[in-house]
Amino acid sequence: MTDTLKNLPQYKALEEHYEAIKDKHLRDLFADETERGKQLAMEAVGLYLDYSKNRITGETMELLLDLARGCELPEAIEAMFSGDKINLTEGRAVLHTALRAPAGTSVVVDGEDVVPDVQAVLDKMSAFCDAVRGGEWVGHSGLPIRNIVNIGIGGSDLGPVMAYEALKYFSARELTFRFVSNVDATDFAEAVADLDPTETMFIVASKTFTTIETMTNANTARQWLLHHVGGDESAVAKHFVALSTNAEKVSEFGIDTANMFEFWDWVGGRYSMDSAIGLSTMLAVGPAGFREMLAGFHEMDEHFRNAPLEKNLPVLMGMLAVWYSNFFGVETTAVLPYEQYLKRFPAYLQQLTMESNGKSTTVDGERVDYETGLIYWGEPGTNGQHSFYQLIHQGTRLIPCDFIAFAKSLNPIDDHHDILIANVLAQSEALAFGKTDAEVRSEGTQDWLVPHRVFEGNRPSNTLIGERMSPAMLGKLVALYEHSVYVQSVIWNIDAFDQWGVELGKVLAKAIIPELAADADSVLDHDSSTNALIERYRKMK
Ligand code: F6P
Repeated sequence: MTDTLKNLPQYKALEEHYEAIKDKHLRDLFADETERGKQLAMEAVGLYLDYSKNRITGETMELLLDLARGCELPEAIEAMFSGDKINLTEGRAVLHTALRAPAGTSVVVDGEDVVPDVQAVLDKMSAFCDAVRGGEWVGHSGLPIRNIVNIGIGGSDLGPVMAYEALKYFSARELTFRFVSNVDATDFAEAVADLDPTETMFIVASKTFTTIETMTNANTARQWLLHHVGGDESAVAKHFVALSTNAEKVSEFGIDTANMFEFWDWVGGRYSMDSAIGLSTMLAVGPAGFREMLAGFHEMDEHFRNAPLEKNLPVLMGMLAVWYSNFFGVETTAVLPYEQYLKRFPAYLQQLTMESNGKSTTVDGERVDYETGLIYWGEPGTNGQHSFYQLIHQGTRLIPCDFIAFAKSLNPIDDHHDILIANVLAQSEALAFGKTDAEVRSEGTQDWLVPHRVFEGNRPSNTLIGERMSPAMLGKLVALYEHSVYVQSVIWNIDAFDQWGVELGKVLAKAIIPELAADADSVLDHDSSTNALIERYRKMK
């Protein structure tokens, strides 16, 4: 990019356009364009996106796509897929798309085709999963594995947990899955409280194999196992596997690298659920189910790479996020899946979106003079309706929503699914069109109560509809958001693939750990607040 975002003529055109349409109400937009609901919608790879209930006109989308071209989005998309080192601050390629490239295709990084390596790890994972699921892999005392405990944090936890919950319907019910992430010992203690160590497999998932939470939990798990097998170290090989890019640290920890499933530095932690980090997912749904999920990811990748911008789902969603963030000054977006299996999807998206785009420095090292990453949050519907939706409907803030729903339930019981879907449709309708003063009065509402019962409406949303939840559908959905995040980062000219902002806290915590254990009178050298808090903790612990 040669110019800063706000100086681009395409950005200025959008500023002018925003002034012209910012007060238009969705009621009027729908009244003026009778086919709007069908025109501002796009279907691709089995996902239907209705984006008509956004505060846009056809011209808005044209201008947003002009901006995308002005920011060289098509070139940036190609750069990602072709393995350019677009993670500039870490000097790395960004190739989560290679993790789902079909066997026989080729993706070259530093002169080497990585697809054969990816496929080899998938084959190794498959053989392991078949052995565990088939009962051939036995633990130290000769019993088959019945419990899987994934130990990891951030991208080494959120993806695996989310995918396990999302695909539970397709999972091996005879296996118990637990996920330990927090260094709070309660997480570990509760996860294993009812497990038999001789039937338990620990998956230590860490890209770096240095993350303090994961290493602390993994060591505790090791002691827990050894305690139950009379200290026999040979048990570790039967009950621990590692998922990592760091073979050296894995073997230092005491896990045989034969029991390590590898991935590579061109896979970011938050983009790694389809790498070896997905071993727990593969154990749950089996190798075929995992490959189905990868095929879903790949379908969305191909769509993102090849579809014209105006028909490109991640581009449309990404540019709408830019529209709200940079022009309406919106700060948050709610993701509201009307699918119980997606209950951890908003939490997963929080890392994906906010660790990626929570940046205030451009790739050229300049401080941005515009807003970047939106705050993502959400809960499954209909639960959220009975908690925070009030604020979305009648609060003072504008909160665009992504509704996600499926035409078919995996658990069709009576009329549950129609009730669920009626609710998601009703919510986006109510948010967009509201209820006017006249409508409230026509119901015979007393004058004083009218203002309380008016819904302004004009609150935007996307609605995504797929046929039903499945491994492939999950892959498509995750890839959709991954690519939408990238689109936003290209417009904002930031590196979506580093995360320097998490470092300082880690360094400071390392310094504080020994201070907490030191004598009560040992001198502290922090600010007066931190000093006082440490002193208080020392007294109270
Ligand atoms: O601290 C942030 C982070 O580096 C995330 O980006 C990452 O997903 C998480 O920690 C876990 O890292 P690792 O997989 O290396 O243990």
